[in-house]
Amino acid sequence: MSRDSTAKILTVAFLLCVICSILVSAAAVGLSERQQRNKAAEKKKNILMAAGLYDEDMSLDEQFSTIQTRIVDLQSGEFSSDYDVASFDSRVAAREPETRFVIPEGQDLAGIKAHSRYQDVYMVMDGDALQQMILPVYGKGLWSTMYGFISLDADMTTVVGFAFYEHGETPGLGGEIDNPNWKNLWPGKRIYDDQGKTRIEVVKGTVDRGSANAIYQVDGLSGATLTARGVGNLLQYWMGQNGYRLLLAKLKQEGVKQ
Ligand SMILES: Cc1cc2nc3c(=O)[nH]c(=O)nc-3n(C[C@H](O)[C@H](O)[C@H](O)COP(=O)(O)O)c2cc1C
Repeated sequence: MSRDSTAKILTVAFLLCVICSILVSAAAVGLSERQQRNKAAEKKKNILMAAGLYDEDMSLDEQFSTIQTRIVDLQSGEFSSDYDVASFDSRVAAREPETRFVIPEGQDLAGIKAHSRYQDVYMVMDGDALQQMILPVYGKGLWSTMYGFISLDADMTTVVGFAFYEHGETPGLGGEIDNPNWKNLWPGKRIYDDQGKTRIEVVKGTVDRGSANAIYQVDGLSGATLTARGVGNLLQYWMGQNGYRLLLAKLKQEGVKQ
């Protein structure tokens, strides 16, 4: 075969493709365990951050030792032991027919169509006493689904912290949901009023600090009204009847049953 023959060029190109694909596949398989570990660590970090407990000088596992993970059945508001907390993935469960909950028409405030009937929730405990409840929430912004954690105080209504860890909103516009100044507006706000109505909302513009409703309201994001509206809507959904309302009401009334 001559050095420049078509057959030789094609053989070299083919071999190169085979070698490269083997290398890429080996890297993907070899690194997948590490990726899973990093993903789990990142999730723990986000949960701790929502609770205002993250300390970068301490190991994540040590910090997480005061946190109990449970799987809640949103339909009954009870904890379920049917799933393994370590391997449960609510995004996978949202696709499985036996755990998928399709949101009834007219109730899909979060714009997500369906979600898992079971969700992993995180309790900051002091002995047997529940200090904070950290809940995963998600919903549509303008361009993307925004995933976050909200942490509530022992009264199950006052926000301790709220942060998104994954979204695709525009940096500088909707991406301002990550701005620490905006995130700092959330602690102290209340989700429910004394009648149990879900009142939390993101207003357009700035909250009238003198108004009686201010305790339930957070300033909007200028130039990003649609993202900000998405944040308010997803909270209305997840704190409502199809979300965590039943669980929170039970915990408030009965405390944590071990
Ligand atoms: C390239 C581009 C990206 C945008 N990204 C966002 C976004 O991430 N979130 C958002 O709410 N609005 C975004 N907007 C603006 C919306 O189209 C809309 O004008 C805005 O949400 C209205 O907010 P305002 O009433 O505060 O001006 C974007 C606009 C453009 C042109």
